[in-house]
Formats: sequence, C-alpha cells, structure tokens
Amino acid sequence: MKAVVYKGPRELAVEEVPDARIEDPTDALIRITTTNICGSDLHMYEGRTDVEAGTVLGHENMGVVEDVGSAVGRVSAGDRVSVPFNIACGTCRSCNEGWTSFCERTNPIDGMQGAAYGYANMGPYPGGQAEYLRVPYADFNLLDLPSGDEHENDFTTLSDIFPTGWHGTRLSGLEPGDTVAVFGAGPVGLLAAHSARLQGARGVYVVDHQRDRLALVERFECAPIDATKGDPVEQIMDATAGLGVDRGVEAVGWQAHDPQGDEDPAMVLDELAQVVKAHGGIGVVGVYVPEDPGGPNELAQQGRPAWSYGTFFSKGQQMATGQAPVKRYNRQLRDLIIDGRAKPSELVSHELDLTEAVDAYDKFDKRLDGWTKVLLRPSA
Ligand SMILES: NC(=O)c1ccc[n+]([C@@H]2O[C@H](COP(=O)([O-])OP(=O)(O)OC[C@H]3O[C@@H](n4cnc5c(N)ncnc54)[C@H](O)[C@@H]3O)[C@@H](O)[C@H]2O)c1
Ligand SMILES: [Zn+2]
Ligand SMILES: [Zn+2]
Repeated sequence: MKAVVYKGPRELAVEEVPDARIEDPTDALIRITTTNICGSDLHMYEGRTDVEAGTVLGHENMGVVEDVGSAVGRVSAGDRVSVPFNIACGTCRSCNEGWTSFCERTNPIDGMQGAAYGYANMGPYPGGQAEYLRVPYADFNLLDLPSGDEHENDFTTLSDIFPTGWHGTRLSGLEPGDTVAVFGAGPVGLLAAHSARLQGARGVYVVDHQRDRLALVERFECAPIDATKGDPVEQIMDATAGLGVDRGVEAVGWQAHDPQGDEDPAMVLDELAQVVKAHGGIGVVGVYVPEDPGGPNELAQQGRPAWSYGTFFSKGQQMATGQAPVKRYNRQLRDLIIDGRAKPSELVSHELDLTEAVDAYDKFDKRLDGWTKVLLRPSA
C-alpha cells in the first residue's frame, strides 16, 4: 500500500510499504478515507523528536472498516468510523477512569503511558497517512459515524484536533459566562476557541502572529489578537478593562516563538500567567517535551522552560496539562456536528491526494499563507 514515510528531518516519501493487516484478534483494518496533517506531525518532520526513519506518519484518521479480527464484535466490515489518535486497551486503570491518553498497556516504552499511531515515543504503531490502518482494540477505540460521506471534513476533526481543543477548555476549568484567552490560532487553538463558545464562554481572545490564521478566528465568533501589533498581554488587558481573563488555553507548544521566529518555550506560559486572573485556570494542550536537544538554551534542552512559576503561584492559578483523551468527548462532538451546532470544518484549507503529501508538508511547515489544515485522501 502507499504511505507517507518519515526519512529524516524535512525529508518524507510517499512510497509502497507492506500492507497493514489484522495482527491480533481484537484488531480492525480500516480503509482510510481522510487522514490529516497535524501541527504535532511538524515536530517530527522538523527533526525535533527521535522518531525513527521508516515510520509511517499519521494519527488523525477516519475511514471504513475493511475487515475485523475474530474477537471483534461491535464493529464490522463496511462501518464508517473515526479513529481516536490514542490507542487504548479499554481495561487498564487509566482507561477505566476515562483517561485513554494515559493507557497503561499499549505503550511498550518503559515509563511511558499512552500510545498513538505514527508518533515519536508513542509505541510501535504505524500511522494512517496510508491506504490502510491497523487499529488495535477496535471495539473499544473506534467511534461509529453515520454511513455515507456527509460531514466528512467535520468528522475528520474528531480523531484529534476538535477533542483536543475541547480538552484544553475543560482543563482550564471553563464555565459558562467566562472570558478566555487562547494562545495559538492553529487548528487546535481555533477549535479550543470554537469549543469555548459552544460551552457558553463570553469573550474569547485568540492570539497568534499569523494573519491568515487570525482571519479564521472571526468565523468562530471570537476576537483575534495580533501579536505583531503589540504585546498580546497588554491587548487582552485593554480588552478586558484591566481584569484579565477567567481562563487560558495553551495551544502552541514548546516551539513557541516570537513573530521573528526566535523560539522560547517559556514565552506563552509566562503570558498566560500574566493574562489569566488570580485563581483562574490554564489548560495546556500544546505539547511540551521532557528533553529537546535542539532547544534554544541549556534549560530548554533539558525540557525545563524557565517560566514565571512565582507569578503563577502568587496568583493562585491552576494549571492542567497533557494529551487529550479523545474518547471522553468525541461522541458528544460528533452529535453536535450532526445537529449543526458545531462546524469545525471551517478551518480546513486543503484537500489533497495522499501522493501530494511531500509538497503539502513542506508548505504547511513553512506556515505559508492559507495553509491551515491539510486533509489527505488516499485513493484506495
Ligand atoms: N495535547 C494533545 O492531545 C495534542 C493534540 C494535538 C496537537 N497538540 C499540540 O497542540 C499544539 C498546536 O497544534 P496545531 O495543530 O494547532 O499546531 P500549529 O503548529 O498548526 O499551530 C500553532 C500556532 O501557534 C502559533 N504560535 C507560535 N508561537 C506563538 C506565540 N508565541 N504566541 C501565539 N501563537 C504562537 C503559530 O503561529 C501557529 O499558528 C502543538 O504543540 C501540537 O503538538 C496536542
Ligand atoms: Zn494531531
Ligand atoms: Zn488502557
């Protein structure tokens, strides 16, 4: 089958790899209809992780069940499904508590909890930027979708970015009527903003320095804050009569940078501590890593951003972090899409054939104007 294969920093190929197949009785084989490129893939693409050469990328997958193993009973061939990026067993302590992003069984790397498809340090599972994908523990992991092809570009956000954006707002402690600052107007930040509005947030401010992405903020009835036009903290303080916001969401990650491109992993954490009110909450879904050999200074390389923890403590703020447990939210978000209340596809910018992936990664990585969210369609 054809797949997108990581070769080395900024080097990919779309090439033939061995077909995905049923390996365990609890597996399903999915024929991919849509698979997305994610901001998380760029950390690997840029060589900022230790993902192995030869890895098939792709953790944002949906499609149609092609075949199931002998122990699979709930889903069957022909079902249209969304595949959460988390690979979870369904029976460990974390899974039982609803935290599939910290499954204790599926990641064989010592000390690591939580697995994903085609992702550095998340287990040996090939990704779905391919014609077919093997899904372990299929009965537990797969989400049913209505058959046909309606809402394809909305449903394709259910594997990661929509639940992750929603998770950011839940981690922040959002309540109806709250004001919210979201840092990052990438797909995750935009859908955190959309999620905040769906949950009754009052003012939602979304910070970025990319104009094309800020232009999308208004589609989700939120207020763009352009970091090239001045300190985002000051802009939000002015917009909130000096009060700051009730909640903050971090949707940038450790490669946060200024408009000139200089990286500083502490930058957004500092701004959140400043802009969120005393006793307010901060949800961090942008990824931070335990070590980053390519980081801008020694502390950053050790995965220890030097951020204003003192301000955070003095203001009695709360913070929660981590990979999103997609299954906690994807069923409800699917139904909001079907009911017409949620429209996450507003941010999709490109729908391409899988064979165009190499060029698409290059353009998306350069954050070229208008390249917000790329969907790939294998033609199998
Ligand atoms: N926790 C999870 O489960 C989970 C899931 C998916 C993605 N992620 C992570 O979420 C983050 C965002 O993902 P994405 O797909 O939207 O990525 P993206 O790279 O497309 O978007 C990030 C945005 O942040 C902006 N940015 C950079 N520095 C900034 C700064 N200092 N202030 C404000 N904005 C800044 C960039 O211009 C960009 O638009 C990434 O770190 C990704 O790895 C986490
Ligand atoms: Zn993703
Ligand atoms: Zn588990």
